Amino acid sequence: MRGYQLVDGSSGVYRADEARVQQGTVDTDHTGHSGAGFVNLENTPGSYAEWTVVAAAASTASLELRYANGTTADRPMDIAVNGTRIAAGRTFPPTANWDTWATAALPVSLKAGANTVRFTSTTAAGGPNLDRITVR
Ligand code: GCU
Repeated sequence: MRGYQLVDGSSGVYRADEARVQQGTVDTDHTGHSGAGFVNLENTPGSYAEWTVVAAAASTASLELRYANGTTADRPMDIAVNGTRIAAGRTFPPTANWDTWATAALPVSLKAGANTVRFTSTTAAGGPNLDRITVR
């Protein structure tokens, strides 16, 4: 786990292998992921991946999650920043197959220093597969 900062403080890419994963694994059995693997959350509500995002200053940033959903149904997740849920049951619709990745973005408020960003499955199907997050 690490965070790094670009010029204006809150930018960075955080890979699947840098996440803290509760009820899930980092897998490599589908193509197109950007790092050493992707997070495969268990098919159960409450499974989650969490990253520590470091910001040089309090700021509003764009949080982008790269994901794949190879099913034909939504894979919603809750998104929380520093323990506060900022999106409930955010939709992560199908991406055609598990090798096809899409990006979902949302604005987040970060504090100076370390922030936690957590993506939690909300249904028995679990979340989508997670490749990385990018903060800009
Ligand atoms: C398949 C796929 C996994 C995925 C899982 C799921 O098993 O290979 O990568 O995580 O479906 O339904 O979540």
